[in-house]
Amino acid sequence: MLWIRWELLLMASICWQRGHTDNHGATKSLGHVTVVIVGGTGDLARKYLWQGFFQLYADQVGKGHTFSFYGGALSTTEKGTPLLFDILKELACPAELSVERCALVKDQFLHLSKYHQLKTTEDYENLSQQIKQQLGQEGIIEAGRLFYLSVPAFAYADIAEKINNTCRPPSEAWLRVVLEKPFGHNLYSAQALDKKLSGQLKEEEMYRIDHYLGKQVVSKILPFRKENKKLLDPIWNKHHIERIEIVLKETLDAKGRIQFYDQYGVIRDVLQNHLTEVMTLMLMNLPANLSNSEEILQNKLNFLASLQHVDNSNAVVGQYQAYNGEVQEELNKTKDYFSLTPTFAGVVIHVDNAQYEGIPIFMTSGKALDERVSYARVLFKSNVFCVQDPNNVQCKSKQIIFYLGHGTLQYPAILLSKNLFKPELVSSGDWKEVTEYKDVNVLGLQLSDYYIQSPVTPREAYCELISHVFFGRKDSFISAEGLLASWEFWTPLLEGLSRVFPRVYPGGVDNGNLLNFQLKGHQVAFSHEALVNVINPGAEDNFQVMQGKYRSSEMVSAWAQELVERLASDLLLAAEEAIREEGQFHLALSGGSSPVALLRALALNLYTFPWRNTHIWQVDERCVPHTESGSNFRSIHDLLLQHIRIPYFNIHPMPVHLTQRLCVEEDGGPTLYEKEIKKHVNGSSFHYILLGVGQDGHTASLFQDTKLENDEENLVILTESPNKPHQRMSLTFTAINRARRVGVLIMGKSKHELVSQLSRIKGESSKYPITKVQPKSGTLIWYIDYDALLG
Ligand code: BG6
Repeated sequence: MLWIRWELLLMASICWQRGHTDNHGATKSLGHVTVVIVGGTGDLARKYLWQGFFQLYADQVGKGHTFSFYGGALSTTEKGTPLLFDILKELACPAELSVERCALVKDQFLHLSKYHQLKTTEDYENLSQQIKQQLGQEGIIEAGRLFYLSVPAFAYADIAEKINNTCRPPSEAWLRVVLEKPFGHNLYSAQALDKKLSGQLKEEEMYRIDHYLGKQVVSKILPFRKENKKLLDPIWNKHHIERIEIVLKETLDAKGRIQFYDQYGVIRDVLQNHLTEVMTLMLMNLPANLSNSEEILQNKLNFLASLQHVDNSNAVVGQYQAYNGEVQEELNKTKDYFSLTPTFAGVVIHVDNAQYEGIPIFMTSGKALDERVSYARVLFKSNVFCVQDPNNVQCKSKQIIFYLGHGTLQYPAILLSKNLFKPELVSSGDWKEVTEYKDVNVLGLQLSDYYIQSPVTPREAYCELISHVFFGRKDSFISAEGLLASWEFWTPLLEGLSRVFPRVYPGGVDNGNLLNFQLKGHQVAFSHEALVNVINPGAEDNFQVMQGKYRSSEMVSAWAQELVERLASDLLLAAEEAIREEGQFHLALSGGSSPVALLRALALNLYTFPWRNTHIWQVDERCVPHTESGSNFRSIHDLLLQHIRIPYFNIHPMPVHLTQRLCVEEDGGPTLYEKEIKKHVNGSSFHYILLGVGQDGHTASLFQDTKLENDEENLVILTESPNKPHQRMSLTFTAINRARRVGVLIMGKSKHELVSQLSRIKGESSKYPITKVQPKSGTLIWYIDYDALLG
């Protein structure tokens, strides 16, 4: 019945719209637009999408386009029609329409909207036929078709195929397909999804929505930076910015959507998309032209590429206490099932470029917290010491806040401390300066301490974005490249966290200080110990460090973290002793994966370690340029050197790259390094050499087949590895065995077999080069973690 009335009223609507003429009195027809919401009776459609399309219709009616709207879902027409009708009758009137006008427009909208079952390919064919027939009968040209896929992501590829095969409009008209996140689960699944979709739809036809890009404040971050460029440029850098915070706190939990949530968790749900977008807009290079989508995209990609790698040490995760019970219930799991999905995360991110290096960017989000609020704040350093009069404006914090909504302020706004400068309005027509100050405190300052600007009329993010799809404004959407770049950044952390137990928190105000986290060097950790960790009983079994003998030398063993901390502190003792005696500490570091955790721990000791008097040498190097990720020097640089203040002349990379070629005999790289060692290191006897051991028993880059005839004389040689890259440079056993101390670090279950075999070998074995490490007058200590020792 709704449909019959619809047809009549479509006519009426078209007539009504035709009644609107252009300046010359002629009717301007811009063609017909068909909107199809697939999943049109679902939750998102009910909450936001229909309202958004109603707003679009209200904005556009009479301006030349005609419309029809379809809500599609799997149910039959009999079942779906009343469901849709229930949603539509609840639509609210857009604020700018009078009551009478709204009643008229809403009536038209209701009659232009219809349910259509969308399950099989025939259903899609049938829909396309209907569209064609109606337009044919009316003699209206088609402007375009907009499909909004409000369905779980696993259904995208199939629906895209059906649309491609059956529902493409004639070539003059556009096709736009809107997709909701999640776009994948990690880099690999996002790539796979992208491949499937791009087989059906062109990139310009896909509109990947991140509703944060439709939030009024978010969409004005770039315009704000541009409008205030002159005043911002001098302070938008590491010399002035103390820290940046990007925050989405929620009071709601995940109950009712665990099917979805448990597969994703807070990082995939919020940080990878919404908060990453906000960070990018704040820190990417400002494009010369804000309407140039290509330039914006390129700058976004450049920014994402400049982020420093994040891993477990840069994040803390939590899970609200009731979550696991909800998982057991909604996923039909037994009582002993534990989900590791985090519902809270705090991450610190650093940017690797001259403008922002060293600024900590705290990104955090969580469910079941004490308040609902989202904002991004830039806190500036203060260079004023207030001896008296702390209320003086100069003594208050200097900050710029992009306040997205809720919280104490309750409305979206951009706030600037008055002691910074008075900003230009981001947009004169639809933004206003707020000069009425409620008595509230926003992030440490009273409202009257800020210059505030805010949108004249609040608009829902979905409304904004739906209108942007209609106008084809692609820059408000996520591009395939941008999406993959973001996944590339987040995936290693997600992989690392997949085995981490989140800290359990009670939820709401009871969380107290349990989730506070703090910076330690470039890493973060919870500020307070958890009293009990209810989902990880007994894991704290044995944190002790054990000492013993291994292959007749001293051995230290512990769980990985404790072991690395112990090694770092032994290194500190060795450094202090060497500096006391000789004024310098010469440390040679190996490549490979074992020292990674140690280098990180050393980077944390940046204030206590005597870097100024420490010389860093390499035990071995791969014959690749130092800038490449496979280079050992590159990893020493990334993990350690860039975080510490060490004189440049104390750093001694192996010269593998000479006369523009890699490790060529005639270039004499080993001889050069040997000379450098003799020049700086007393008796060529390093104070400390840190080694690892490969699965095959090699150490440094000395392999089973390495020819060592001249080993007696040489300190450095070129060698061949059985693994790629084959060519290496390495210290020889002569150099190693001259050291005062040699530490051999072995970690991980995969080394267990090797550790057992080595323990059975007495003395030297040509099969295992590590057995030739026998310092002449120095000491050898084995650092073996429990995983490697016990398996
Ligand atoms: C959604 C997430 O994308 O964003 C939700 O899936 C989250 O878990 C929501 O609650 C937050 O959006 P807003 O607009 O309420 O800040």
